[in-house]
Amino acid sequence: MQIANGIEDLIRKQVYEADEKLPPIRKLADFLGVNNVTIVKAYDLLGEKSLTYKVRGSGTYVTPKSESLIAEISEFDNTDHLRNTLSSNQEYRQSLINFASATPRAEFFPISDFKTVLNDVLDRDLGEAFSYQEAKGYKPLRESICAYLKGYKIQTEAEHVQIISGAQQGLDIVSKSILDHNDVVIVEAPTYSGAIATFRSRGVKIIEIPMLVDGVSMAKLESLIKRYKPKLMFTMTHCQNPTGYSYSMKKKQALMTLADQYDFYILEDDYVSELIYDSPNKYPLKSMDPKDRVIYLKSFSKILMPGLRLGFMIVPNRLNQAVLNAKEATDISTSGLIQKAFDLYLKQGHWSKQLRYMKKIYYKKYLLMIEMLNKHLPRGANYYIPKGGIMFWIELPKGLSSRTFYDKLDRTKVVFVPGDMFYYNLKNERGIRLSIASVSEEEIRQGVPILCQAMKNFIKKEKELR
Ligand SMILES: Cc1ncc(COP(=O)(O)O)c(C=O)c1O
Repeated sequence: MQIANGIEDLIRKQVYEADEKLPPIRKLADFLGVNNVTIVKAYDLLGEKSLTYKVRGSGTYVTPKSESLIAEISEFDNTDHLRNTLSSNQEYRQSLINFASATPRAEFFPISDFKTVLNDVLDRDLGEAFSYQEAKGYKPLRESICAYLKGYKIQTEAEHVQIISGAQQGLDIVSKSILDHNDVVIVEAPTYSGAIATFRSRGVKIIEIPMLVDGVSMAKLESLIKRYKPKLMFTMTHCQNPTGYSYSMKKKQALMTLADQYDFYILEDDYVSELIYDSPNKYPLKSMDPKDRVIYLKSFSKILMPGLRLGFMIVPNRLNQAVLNAKEATDISTSGLIQKAFDLYLKQGHWSKQLRYMKKIYYKKYLLMIEMLNKHLPRGANYYIPKGGIMFWIELPKGLSSRTFYDKLDRTKVVFVPGDMFYYNLKNERGIRLSIASVSEEEIRQGVPILCQAMKNFIKKEKELR
């Protein structure tokens, strides 16, 4: 008990950090002059409190806590609140150019079309509009989604479509249904921080693999797979968040081969593939999945409205029941009213109209962003032009930290997300994520030169300090 309490104290004070290995049993027993069994029992006590977890054949590790990361994510990925909460000063609020937020501007939300379909549902279904839905989702909507997916070259049936209350819930449900404590999940580094937080909350072991401009290295991936035997790999194959990088066709094919050969699932998060411009390679992994290895996850937050809390998954046959059970245990079902309204929204052609409209807006901002970055990015910093989407990833010169730059930046003018937010362990200090979801063209025109000038000054000062 004394030993367990002592170690607990060290964990709480973060002397032992998340995922750090505790001393081997024999070594600690020798050091403290006690029997090995005493240490085993002490470690068991810590395990019972979920303070530690065991990896078979390796040892006992400190369980990570996800709360602090979750708090940071909500600070950045939904940063509209920054406008209101960081300062009550009116001038401040007006001057903030927000390259941090990944949320689309509310002025583009299709309010009047959505009002029409909501009214249509209420007139048609009366009180039924507010009854519980099947946990799997409103069947006509699942059928409409199957028809819609033909445009993505995905063939599926309504019974494989799972409606979810946003892609974040999808991540949670997949984690609950297939991941156990100590399972291994491979993630790209950097990756979407909401996914890291969800996997962490399940106590799984997260292995990172560096994301490259055309997808992760397949040789490196294979060696990690052999070593760690993952149950799942989480990927964004197109316009990844945060880098904007996309997998080449060759790497997508190689990934599918590896999943089959080494028997793991791929969780493909498709949050913006509608915004790929001019690429023949724009179809999701799910469109090339004859062995049913891919769990396809789709959000409508970036193109439609995040507050709808609506998305869907295509679930491999083998996982269908487990995913359904997890969904039911999570929130019984996604709002029936919203599902029915969205079904009409698809059927009445509003969705394709909205898509065309948003694509035009995003494309103009995308081109402008490239033009402005090419013109203003200081020497030493670089970026890769994404194939579309909403994210731009800038890298500061080697040795400089984007977090230090962020801390020193006058954030009353512009704000971005420092790259370290998107890593679990493998930190790349240089990355800067700029999102064009929330900024207007005018703000891009004003904000990029301000940010680039600040970056130039920062690079110069840091070099002088060396
Ligand atoms: C890559 C990625 N996946 C999932 C989500 C969550 O989306 P949703 O609003 O559908 O829950 C986000 C939101 O920013 C995201 O960027």
